[in-house]
Amino acid sequence: MDKFVIRGGNPLLGTVRISGAKNAALPAMAAALLTEEPVILENIPQVRDIETTRKLLAAMGAEVELGYGRAQHRTTICCRNLASPEASYELVKTMRASTLVLGPLVARCGNARVSLPGGCAIGARPIDLHIKGLELLGAKINQEHGYVEASAERLRGAEIVFDKITVTGTEDLLMAATLAEGETVMQNCAREPEIADLADLLNKMGAQIEGAGTAKIRVRGVEKLHGTKHRIIPDRIEAATFILAGAITGGDLNVAGCDPQHLDALLEKLHEVGVKTSCRGDSVRVEGNDNLNAADVITEEFPGFPTDIQAQYMALATQAEGTSTITENIFENRFMHALEMVRMGANIKIEGSRAVVRGKTPLSSAAVLASDLRASASLVLAALVADGEIIIDRVYHIDRGYENIEEKLRAVGAQIRRIGEILPKRRGSGVG
Ligand code: UD1
Repeated sequence: MDKFVIRGGNPLLGTVRISGAKNAALPAMAAALLTEEPVILENIPQVRDIETTRKLLAAMGAEVELGYGRAQHRTTICCRNLASPEASYELVKTMRASTLVLGPLVARCGNARVSLPGGCAIGARPIDLHIKGLELLGAKINQEHGYVEASAERLRGAEIVFDKITVTGTEDLLMAATLAEGETVMQNCAREPEIADLADLLNKMGAQIEGAGTAKIRVRGVEKLHGTKHRIIPDRIEAATFILAGAITGGDLNVAGCDPQHLDALLEKLHEVGVKTSCRGDSVRVEGNDNLNAADVITEEFPGFPTDIQAQYMALATQAEGTSTITENIFENRFMHALEMVRMGANIKIEGSRAVVRGKTPLSSAAVLASDLRASASLVLAALVADGEIIIDRVYHIDRGYENIEEKLRAVGAQIRRIGEILPKRRGSGVG
């Protein structure tokens, strides 16, 4: 298992370029299941979740070409022959977003078999709302042996009101509704930019969707969708992570190739904290300083403060003067990083869904453990201001969603290196 070794203290200076959004690329790849023709997606990030999705689609019989570097981070997916519309537990357990194939598969193939994702480090994360929505669209659902089986000769348009706002739930049913007979109206939808991006792609494929990006989405079902080319939006969570990295290190960092409009909630909060940011075109410049003020945060659905940057914000809060209360509203158990930060010297108390952070506290060398994707990023940020050497274990989590994070950080002045675990030599095994 790889580890990061980080020596803090360097302000981040220069320009960092943001990759395509993982959370937009995953549903876009699943959307390719809706047509027999090739779908070309550009600005695909080079992260492990994309590779998992490639495997998932390939296991069903899809042809997936994935090219990076000169190939422009592009994938071409052709789902002409789908041999088995199934997502196995082996793949779903490593990436919950695999459940995004459920809606497209049942819409296109008339049946699907997708593993239930099971437990998760940050909360229960059931997919009951995906299933309920598919039932409303006329699918017959059977759940056994840890799998959901859905079937329908053809889905029928319906009125769907989500009991709770769900991002991938909205995406899953949006994709299913494109090929349903008649009109579907979905209410209380998630409004994340990744949903509007998915609808853009689907409309280019011939779907008829209105209102994506708002709470009410209307879909007029069509008989068939066709191939197209689409560029994935920039990753707002990666951008936010680097903005916070610039802020926490007191650096002067230009975060380029992002969409500042997707970052409003964070930029407003940073203003309160006393960090200067300025937006120009597709860039955000962040100028950090030593006098940060505590500010409370409550995570909410978009356009509120994203749960996906709560952990990284907590790292910043440890360096602000005063008490910051961070309330996590989306997931039940998303404070695993707090205890690791405490091991580095932070003063954080967890009270149910609230974390109370008292700053400013010096952070210093410790070995810490990354528990999930965004928690890993938060520990990297904390390490960038720590005194001495921080070793972060289980960084495979970070590779799921950040493209070359250590190279990007090194290029703007961070001291970070990756080390592989050195296995003890076993006599006679031949394996070093
Ligand atoms: C997506 C993002 C993830 C982000 C999250 C919240 C992707 C691939 N992942 O995850 O990075 O942290 O949105 O912004 O885009 N829920 C139910 N029943 C359901 C579905 C969800 O109760 O059927 C609950 C969840 O347990 C959670 C809340 O609804 O408490 C929001 O979850 P949801 O928006 O579905 O998160 P994901 O789509 O899994």
